Amino acid sequence: MRALELFSGLGGWRFALGNRGSVVAAFDVSEAANATYALNHGEIPKARELATLPLGDLASHGADTWLLSPPCQPFCRMGNHQGLEDRRSRAFRHLMDLFLQAPPEQLVLENVSGFLGSDAHALLLARLCGHGLHHLDLEACPSRFGLPNQRPRVFVVASRRPLKRLPLPDLPTPPLAAFLDPVEDEALYLDSEALARHRPGLDLVEAEDRRSACFIGGYGRRYVGSGSFLVAGWALDHL
Ligand SMILES: C[S@@+](CC[C@H](N)C(=O)[O-])C[C@H]1O[C@@H](n2cnc3c(N)ncnc32)[C@H](O)[C@@H]1O
Repeated sequence: MRALELFSGLGGWRFALGNRGSVVAAFDVSEAANATYALNHGEIPKARELATLPLGDLASHGADTWLLSPPCQPFCRMGNHQGLEDRRSRAFRHLMDLFLQAPPEQLVLENVSGFLGSDAHALLLARLCGHGLHHLDLEACPSRFGLPNQRPRVFVVASRRPLKRLPLPDLPTPPLAAFLDPVEDEALYLDSEALARHRPGLDLVEAEDRRSACFIGGYGRRYVGSGSFLVAGWALDHL
């Protein structure tokens, strides 16, 4: 596979691709994301706004595969549900226009569960069917892959070749302790005032637990529904 990694973030798709192929170009508008990508993969993505990317800049890489994670806020449970009308979907809409002129032979898109059945999902399926690609919609969560985190995601997989739905794994989940830094960073502790005020709504987990909730953008500023908080050993007496 010669893959384009679109909305590349910290480079999760490149990790997933492994030695099945190569990323011929990665694109992300965020400098912070691109710096993290460079730390992870030793290459800096193209710092480009995908909503205005010229066809030539996409087609010149000779890619046959698109790996993409467009912004999920327009489809999030706690978002505005505006789908394609949301300004954050502009880049996705533009890519769907470019698809008509330079379609890939394979594509995998990742998003939140709310993407399924949305207008963006319908647009993507129209493009895939119009180009004669087979496709599957899959739902998966890291908790089924041996990770103690609930982060349900949707994957739309498309290929020129027929696709077969495989059973989801259900691997045993180790406790959170297996993933914690050995030294706690006190700067991350919740202050006692916030703890007292939000205590009833907090999702508290302990190191021996085998679950945690997905983090969202407001984590650390919002307390309820933004992700789990780990109870550090010293705090047990204060709860
Ligand atoms: C869901 S995250 C990417 C997840 C990615 N698969 C990863 O492994 O981190 C979406 C990314 O899209 C980028 N992005 C959002 N809108 C963009 C746009 N219009 N043009 C380029 N990048 C954009 C954001 O900076 C963010 O890094």
